[in-house]
This record gives sequence, C-alpha cells and structure tokens, in this order.
Amino acid sequence: MELLDKLNWRYATKAMNGKTVDQDKIDRILEAARLAPTSSGLQPFEIIVITNNDIKGQIKPVAWDQSVITDSSHLLVFAAWDTYTAERINQVFDMTNSVRGYENEGFENYRQMLLNTYPQKDAEENFIHASKQAYIAFGLAVAAAAYEGVDATPMEGFDPDAVDKILGLREKGLRSAVLLPLGYRDEDNDWLANQVKVRKPKEQLVTVLD
Ligand SMILES: Cc1cc2nc3c(=O)[nH]c(=O)nc-3n(C[C@H](O)[C@H](O)[C@H](O)COP(=O)(O)O)c2cc1C
Repeated sequence: MELLDKLNWRYATKAMNGKTVDQDKIDRILEAARLAPTSSGLQPFEIIVITNNDIKGQIKPVAWDQSVITDSSHLLVFAAWDTYTAERINQVFDMTNSVRGYENEGFENYRQMLLNTYPQKDAEENFIHASKQAYIAFGLAVAAAAYEGVDATPMEGFDPDAVDKILGLREKGLRSAVLLPLGYRDEDNDWLANQVKVRKPKEQLVTVLD
C-alpha cells in the first residue's frame, strides 16, 4: 500500500479490541515522532508510553470516558515543556556540538539569540509554542501508525490538568498536550469503522499562486 492508501485506511478509531501491538511497530512509530522537525531543533516535549492498565483506568474518566483509552494497547501522551529555560536550550545545543564534533560561530550566535529570547517570555506563551512542536511529532506518529497498520485515535478530549496530576508531569516541567491511543479497531462495535472518509475538496484547501 502507498502512504496515501494508508492515510485513507486510517480513521480516528472509536472502539479498539484490546489486542497488543508488537513492540517493533511501537518503536517505529516512536522513532517517526523522534525524527519530527521542530522549531530550532529543540524537541521541546516528551512522549509518555502507557501500557499499565491501572494508569489507563485513571485517565479514562478525565478523557471524556473514551473507551479507547483502556482498550488501546499503548497510550501515548505527548507532553510539552512547561516553558523554555536556558538549561533546556543549552542542553540541545551542547548535544548537537557533541554529536557533530565541532563548534560553529553561526550556530553559537543562534544559541545566544534563543537564550536572549525564549527564557524571558511568559511561560504560557512558551508552553503553547512547545506544544505546537509536540503536535508535529504527534502528526508524524499518526501517519507512522497508519503506515504500520496500527489504529490510532488522535485525542484532545481530555482534561490536561487532571492528566498532568495522574502522571506527575508538572513536577517534571511538562504539561500534557495531546493523547494518542494505539491499538486495533473493533469493527463490530465501532460506528465509524466503515464510514466514508470526509475531507474538503482540494480546491477549498489549496491555493496555487503561479
Ligand atoms: C488534535 C486532534 C484531537 C482530536 N480529539 C479527538 C477526541 O478526543 N476523540 C475522538 O474520538 N476523536 C478526536 N479527534 C479525531 C477527529 O475528529 C478526526 O481526526 C477527524 O474528524 C477526521 O476524521 P478521521 O481522522 O477519522 O479521518 C481528534 C483529532 C485531532 C487531530
């Protein structure tokens, strides 16, 4: 199947059958998220992978009681940095220098520019920026799941403060941004399983300026 066939195959699964997804598929989905481009390469988020049924059970009631939370195989929580700090920015730039094995003046100037910009900003503004980066990785994970033949439910229908509390995210300088239950569709019990995919026509979405 081509990628587009797989994107047509996927849908926001409303019922999953509880079957376990092989770890190698999960690893490739997470790798796609890790490879996501992010603003200044900061990757300002972490992904929490939950297979623990007790924790899933605690999250379900604060996620609109959506059954896929507990019927999924793996529940991914994309958690963004609560703000940008000098330490966090420096860590990424130091890692880049270490991996590439050299320092570059232009890159160091860019580091200084970020250090003079982000940490001084309002934490909420920084979190919103960081969570946008998390969504890029989330989007790639959605596509990668489809590519692997794994069903997924992109999910904003949850109480982020409650999820942060359950997972102790605030203490780690993180805030939940978006969830992604992964598993396999339960076709018999999912009203959406065989519905035609609905998207705006290309003409309404794309403007070509020649
Ligand atoms: C960021 C985001 C949040 C969403 N939140 C939910 C959700 O909480 N529950 C749900 O069942 N679907 C959720 N959806 C699924 C969308 O409703 C769905 O992707 C959209 O209607 C397109 O349909 P399709 O994904 O089945 O093709 C969400 C999708 C995205 C991208």
